[in-house]
Amino acid sequence: MGHELKEHASVALKVEEFSGPLDLTEIFGRPGPVQIEIGSGKGTFLLHAARAQPEVNFLGIEWARRFYLHAVDRIGRWGLTNVRIIRAEATTFLAESVPPESVACLHVYFPDPWPKKRHHKRRLLQPKNMPTLIRCLEPVGEIRLATDHLDYFEQMQATVGALRDELEPTEFVRPAGAGEGELAGTNYERKYLEEGRTIYTLAVRRRA
Ligand SMILES: C[S@@+](CC[C@H](N)C(=O)[O-])C[C@H]1O[C@@H](n2cnc3c(N)ncnc32)[C@H](O)[C@@H]1O
Repeated sequence: MGHELKEHASVALKVEEFSGPLDLTEIFGRPGPVQIEIGSGKGTFLLHAARAQPEVNFLGIEWARRFYLHAVDRIGRWGLTNVRIIRAEATTFLAESVPPESVACLHVYFPDPWPKKRHHKRRLLQPKNMPTLIRCLEPVGEIRLATDHLDYFEQMQATVGALRDELEPTEFVRPAGAGEGELAGTNYERKYLEEGRTIYTLAVRRRA
């Protein structure tokens, strides 16, 4: 166990301690709107969003142990009480542990693009994963997406566009924690903005 997990035990959720749907009110120690970030990386979005919106409960899902520990350490040191992070594979976790209609917003920023065609089946945003994402959303709950990868962006547009009965387009709202000139406020975005890359965004909401 990393020392980060011992020092910041209130931030780090352990997947092995849960079976079946999570009690989100218990996890955060209070009721309130829940927003989830899939693929939190080093936790930059979570830090700034949680500080900007203390009334919202933020849950980050990150698979890579190194990034997960880094994010736990940063969030713990900032003393934020409205963030939890879990080390899990996102689609499995959402399907098995997140109650239906419980999430106000799913943030997916700079998901791995898997550029090679033979790897496209690993992309998060693809038709087979959409029922899992949509199931978690409250009525009018949103999915907000950002990427620098045009081919993946076009796949995202096609994927959500094919689900018009369930999802409707909505304006992409910059998260409250995004800095000046930023659209999402993540590490990868910062890196890509410095490189002068174009950032594409997309938002949809679940029909009521
Ligand atoms: C390209 S990074 C972007 C990180 C962060 N969102 C940002 O914009 O700085 C993608 C992150 O998603 C995580 N990830 C990829 N697939 C995942 C999955 N199925 N479940 C959970 N995390 C995943 C990776 O480990 C990585 O940290």
